[in-house]
Amino acid sequence: MDYEYLKRYVLGEFGMDLSAYKDNQIKRRLEILLTRTNTDDYKGYVQFIKKDDGERAKLLRALTVNTTEFYRDPVVFDYLKEQVFPGLLKEKERIRIWSAGSSDGPEPYTIAMILDSMAIPTQRFQIYATDIDNEVLARAKVGKYQERRLAKLPSGWRERYFREVDRGYIISDDIKNRVSFKKHDLLGKLLLGPWDVVLCRNVLIYLNREAQQNLVTKFAHLLESGGYLILGWPEYIFQPEKQGLTRVGPCTYKKNS
Ligand SMILES: C[S@@+](CC[C@H](N)C(=O)[O-])C[C@H]1O[C@@H](n2cnc3c(N)ncnc32)[C@H](O)[C@@H]1O
Repeated sequence: MDYEYLKRYVLGEFGMDLSAYKDNQIKRRLEILLTRTNTDDYKGYVQFIKKDDGERAKLLRALTVNTTEFYRDPVVFDYLKEQVFPGLLKEKERIRIWSAGSSDGPEPYTIAMILDSMAIPTQRFQIYATDIDNEVLARAKVGKYQERRLAKLPSGWRERYFREVDRGYIISDDIKNRVSFKKHDLLGKLLLGPWDVVLCRNVLIYLNREAQQNLVTKFAHLLESGGYLILGWPEYIFQPEKQGLTRVGPCTYKKNS
């Protein structure tokens, strides 16, 4: 009952439907907030945050888990650079790429850097990045990051694509201008396809089985035939052939023609 009350509040306040997420994970994160604010139950916690904007932001942060970094899981990005993009660009004049659940930008910006390093002109691709959390999208548009989040970039890329500023690095305008950020809830209506590449990495792990399956089915439907779906390291599709997909590389599924 109490948890249902909090779920209704979160849906109204942030437009986030917690029914699709794994209950135990969400409750574990909420427990920490309850302890810290000295509230006994979810209802008391909601009353508390209604009067406290700062705590409301902390709740959203705890619910969304925004952890990300540049070139996260290098073998996946190497595979995109060496196999996926050359193949697609040989066949198509222009490709459409969607980073779904982009957090504050390292994933779509990494894609923009990869295409730049391959000397692909900007007219040949579009990169969209979406997230449910307005705060991370605002940070993505600023494009300032702490040094540790750049640690996995290939050598020379930090100097090539960033400018050092006070306590961090700002991404170059040239790379920034190649990515369009937009607020979007993956559990609502999906962005119109067809897409050549959809990256949805480290988002499914937080969803329950049913929501995961629904989302993968929708992605498979929205992909261009021969297009690719890229998941996170801990995520996989059980029986991908049922969705018309084949696993072709690390975390990478291709839509059958
Ligand atoms: C752990 S981050 C993953 C970032 C990046 N894709 C990566 O793998 O490095 C998960 C992101 O998914 C977003 N997210 C969670 N639920 C979402 C939803 N229903 N719609 C859109 N984004 C969502 C969170 O706000 C968070 O920024």
